[in-house]
Amino acid sequence: MNATNAPANAEPATGRKANKTTDVGSVFVSNYPPYSAWSGDQVASVHKALKSPCSDTTPLGLYLHIPFCRKRCKFCYFRVYTDKNGAAIQRYLDALANEIDLYSHSPRIAQRPLHFVYFGGGTPSYISAKHLRTLVQRIKNALPWDQAAEIAFECEPGTLTQTKLEAIKEIGVTRLSVGVENLNDTILRENGRAHVTKEIYTTWPWIKALDFEQVNLDLIAGMVGETWDSWRQTVQQTIDLDPDSITVYQMELPYNTVYSKSVLDGTGTPIPLADWDTKRAWHAYAFEQFQAANYQISSAYTVSKKNTSNRFLYRDALWRGSDMLGTGIASFGHIDGIHYQNNPQWDAYLAALDDDQLPFNRAYTTSATERLTREMILQLKLGHLSADYFREKFDIDIIQHFAPALTKLQDQQMLHFDADQIELTPSGLLRVDQLLPEFYDEKFRDRRYT
Ligand SMILES: C[S@@+](CC[C@H](N)C(=O)[O-])C[C@H]1O[C@@H](n2cnc3c(N)ncnc32)[C@H](O)[C@@H]1O
Ligand code: SF4
Repeated sequence: MNATNAPANAEPATGRKANKTTDVGSVFVSNYPPYSAWSGDQVASVHKALKSPCSDTTPLGLYLHIPFCRKRCKFCYFRVYTDKNGAAIQRYLDALANEIDLYSHSPRIAQRPLHFVYFGGGTPSYISAKHLRTLVQRIKNALPWDQAAEIAFECEPGTLTQTKLEAIKEIGVTRLSVGVENLNDTILRENGRAHVTKEIYTTWPWIKALDFEQVNLDLIAGMVGETWDSWRQTVQQTIDLDPDSITVYQMELPYNTVYSKSVLDGTGTPIPLADWDTKRAWHAYAFEQFQAANYQISSAYTVSKKNTSNRFLYRDALWRGSDMLGTGIASFGHIDGIHYQNNPQWDAYLAALDDDQLPFNRAYTTSATERLTREMILQLKLGHLSADYFREKFDIDIIQHFAPALTKLQDQQMLHFDADQIELTPSGLLRVDQLLPEFYDEKFRDRRYT
């Protein structure tokens, strides 16, 4: 046992492990209870929930997974394919449109307006403008999104052309998120990115000219080959690009990345990965520079320009327990308190939809306490929580409910709290994902996350 009482093999996302080196294992907490607790035998509950009409005003969102990329980045843990031709992509998009159509006929979803839509991946910008327009038309026929307050769309810079960007704008995208990751070509190549900086600088004026409501740029602190000098340059060049918001992730190595496999096999030369203290220092430096350049911190990972209405509805709705249809291969969704994940296998996903069946793979019916914990830990990533919100929604005083964990973390200078609110310290915000297991139910601690 180590100093934090977690077994040596506990994953950081489920054990309070004071990480030093970047080891293999999930770090980023995107949901609760951990995915490893979800199971096939609970899938029937999702079907049952879909059969009864929605009796409340819970907002509804739609996530679409586009699992194609030009190349697999060596650090990436998403379900992606780099070998699918036009016919295979068409077949996938047909299945996806059919999936959305099936939802639209279920009593729980029919007639409900979409509050937000999120095209994630993979790389949604990988598909052609024609494929995109057709897909959107089919979705809109099934679930109109005219009232949606946000349509978000992820892109990889090298897949963008002026015409494609015009199509993305035309379908109504309000938030464009660009995976820049770094602005040093040697680092981009080393980490297996398909693009180099030239493609970012070619694309950027087109993006600006189209005047999207919000343009976000993703960076990763701690890519292989990063140094203080290169990171300082990336941060400055990011400021020069002048995006509306900037997201900084700290490099992590979940089990299924190319780098993780090589670390676990012990094959090849050891990978020089920055340790967690260094990544946090880079993250902190970036946030300081961005704040000096008129950005404000809006979550543990994101800064947005001051005095603009830079909201991120998808994140906020998800963290507040809204319903979300997770569509596409391996997607995660949430309906009426039930988490579910779609089939992660290409053939099985398509086969289910060929039979007009929703392609669920595993699910988990949450208890009221688990929903409270889920919202509490996800919203803690914003850096501050108000006890009133939880009192009103769950009739529970989170300060009392989580008193031992809050006191422990306060003693470690990770947060402050009083009777009304909780606020993370700058140090706590930089490692928020590693703090969250403190709030988990004992049965979910120290197990695999995914
Ligand atoms: C689906 S990708 C964004 C769109 C597009 N696929 C791309 O990469 O440009 C989502 C983001 O996750 C982040 N990401 C992926 N793997 C990561 C890892 N191992 N550690 C930290 N961030 C990671 C990257 O910043 C990436 O932009
Ligand atoms: S990081 Fe983005 S581009 Fe790279 S493999 Fe993952 S999803 Fe594809």
